[in-house]
Amino acid sequence: MQVALKIWRYDSSSGERALREYEIDAPDEATLLDCLDIVKDRHDGTLAYRKSCRMMICGSCGMRMNGAAVLACKTRMYEIAQAGEVPVISAMGNLPIVKDLVVDMDPFWSKFKAMKPYLQPGYDVPQDGREYRISQERMNVIHKEALCINCGCCVSECNAMESDPEFLGPQALAKGMRFVGDPRDAATVERLEQYSGPHGIWECTRCFFCNERCPKGVDPRDAIAKLGAEAISNGIDRDMGAKHAKWFIRSTETTGWLRETELVPKTQGIVSSVKQMKFAMGLIKHNKAGLAFPPHVARDVGEARNLHKLVKEQDRQGAMGHVQGERALARLAHGHSGEETLDEIYERQGAFTRPYLPGEGSAGGQGSLTQADVTPGEEPTKKPGGGA
Ligand code: SF4
Ligand code: SF4
Ligand code: FES
Repeated sequence: MQVALKIWRYDSSSGERALREYEIDAPDEATLLDCLDIVKDRHDGTLAYRKSCRMMICGSCGMRMNGAAVLACKTRMYEIAQAGEVPVISAMGNLPIVKDLVVDMDPFWSKFKAMKPYLQPGYDVPQDGREYRISQERMNVIHKEALCINCGCCVSECNAMESDPEFLGPQALAKGMRFVGDPRDAATVERLEQYSGPHGIWECTRCFFCNERCPKGVDPRDAIAKLGAEAISNGIDRDMGAKHAKWFIRSTETTGWLRETELVPKTQGIVSSVKQMKFAMGLIKHNKAGLAFPPHVARDVGEARNLHKLVKEQDRQGAMGHVQGERALARLAHGHSGEETLDEIYERQGAFTRPYLPGEGSAGGQGSLTQADVTPGEEPTKKPGGGA
């Protein structure tokens, strides 16, 4: 196939910047990274970019295509070339450019190191001298965060980092959640204190671009939400962001909707609110203050209250509650109305093959009765007459 690319070339030593166009002949299955290799090998050996694994593992090849961060080795070019598009390739955002598509990753790694991305000693060592086992339920809380390959695509698109380069950012905070959610780590509270400080959790603008651009499904914004929930459930709620979130919860629990008029005094305190009286008067004048008394109560408020009750009863405060909510939303997103059984969903036309859980039987393959049944937290067993 014929592929045309426009690439922003830049040399930090001279300050020269130019948009160059290249036309190459590439195999139909070529990725963006393959195309850059062809440009470098056959057209212009001065082009600079990073790569290593070529299989979405090392995180080296993050760059922008048409203004949005991608992993070059994950981006197939066939449809783009067939559509006659000429994508513009440039270096990632929010990091200084060294040359062409190569950015200086030092600020990225400094924030990564600041998160202390290793288990802090002090946890209970299992008495029997065996490995520390974690239940699947607890692992679910950090499953996505553990998938991060440190590519920087999320950082490239982060709104909050654009306005405050000191903001810890989506990658570092997702890494932080990886350890906060790990029951073997002994520094949960210290970590939450640190991440709740200036330039931390509550500086995120919730634009969700990090979730959108992450090539590995880490969903860093969700990790930040989990950190916020963990901080609040550990009583670390000094920041206005935490107070804001707490008030939203209280508001939905009591009346079933967000009473934004009360948000300012509850978040900022009375003194600060008095200073904003002029703004408040403007809202009242334009009938936007919602001063009805007693406040309107939503018709189905009972459902919101039941939800609160359920979370408390099941002791799912913090990140565990967040994961439970995520699962329910994912089911809704897949059209699950609650009336079908799991088996019925997997029997739908075009559905994925049903994954079998430990202890369940299937005709063969993963989780089959002929395989070892390893249930988290329990002794590994072999089924009678089982195979490997
Ligand atoms: S959601 Fe927050 S962390 Fe993610 S890109 Fe937006 S501002 Fe940055
Ligand atoms: S969270 Fe995703 S986008 Fe961000 S560094 Fe990790 S893998 Fe890359
Ligand atoms: S080259 Fe390793 S992730 Fe792309």
